[in-house]
Amino acid sequence: MLNQIEFLKTRDGSSTIYLKHLDETYHSINGAFSESLHVYIINGLKKIDKEQEQINILEVGFGTGLNALLTMDYVLPHQKVNYMSIEPFPLEIDIINKYYKEFSHLPYNTPFISHLIQSEFNKWNIIHDQFSFCLINKKLQELSDSDYQLFGENGVDIIYYDAFAPAKQSEMWDLEVIEKATQALNPNGFLTTYCAQGQFKRNLKSLGLRLESVKGPLGKREMTLAFKNL
Ligand SMILES: C[S@@+](CC[C@H](N)C(=O)[O-])C[C@H]1O[C@@H](n2cnc3c(N)ncnc32)[C@H](O)[C@@H]1O
Repeated sequence: MLNQIEFLKTRDGSSTIYLKHLDETYHSINGAFSESLHVYIINGLKKIDKEQEQINILEVGFGTGLNALLTMDYVLPHQKVNYMSIEPFPLEIDIINKYYKEFSHLPYNTPFISHLIQSEFNKWNIIHDQFSFCLINKKLQELSDSDYQLFGENGVDIIYYDAFAPAKQSEMWDLEVIEKATQALNPNGFLTTYCAQGQFKRNLKSLGLRLESVKGPLGKREMTLAFKNL
């Protein structure tokens, strides 16, 4: 795998991974850390009511685990997170370790990355008091009702939709795939993503979701939020 990837320094001092065969990076080259913070924490986790004690998160594309680590960093002390991430192609531990070595400023919880990577697939792993983690080792397209049932009675509060860009992996932004990702959203649930592509937004609307376009991360005019409640 190492010969298929490169580590790139992004403009905020954090790194990203470049996949040669896809000609695509895991994060924005304008700042991996700042993109993750802006799209998934400030416009995701931080939009949840502070009084809500249990938060169910579904991530599409675990990749380097950066969104999971920042979620651990920013969850409030009285809150607990069930974090389910879908990843059919998990990165090897050596690659992940090398990736975080390149950062000028690491997430506070980076030491937990090895627990996340080495956790058992397709079941809940208690990473610490406030954070349970389930890595679903399959494609989003293959996700089944029984995977969603791992959340128990409760549905999904936030979807971190972090697939490769439509120009590189268009099928991830198709109507049926988005429908699969959003089918278990709670009445107050929402999806957040860096993507602001027109067809993707029309797909979200046709599923009955209410869209909000907000300012994007560094170097990007817009990003998208899609809410279940109208
Ligand atoms: C933009 S990168 C993810 C970035 C990741 N959240 C991070 O912070 O590193 C997209 C991820 O989606 C994964 N992926 C590719 N095909 C997928 C599929 N069909 N279903 C779910 N994830 C997929 C890739 O392996 C990759 O890890």
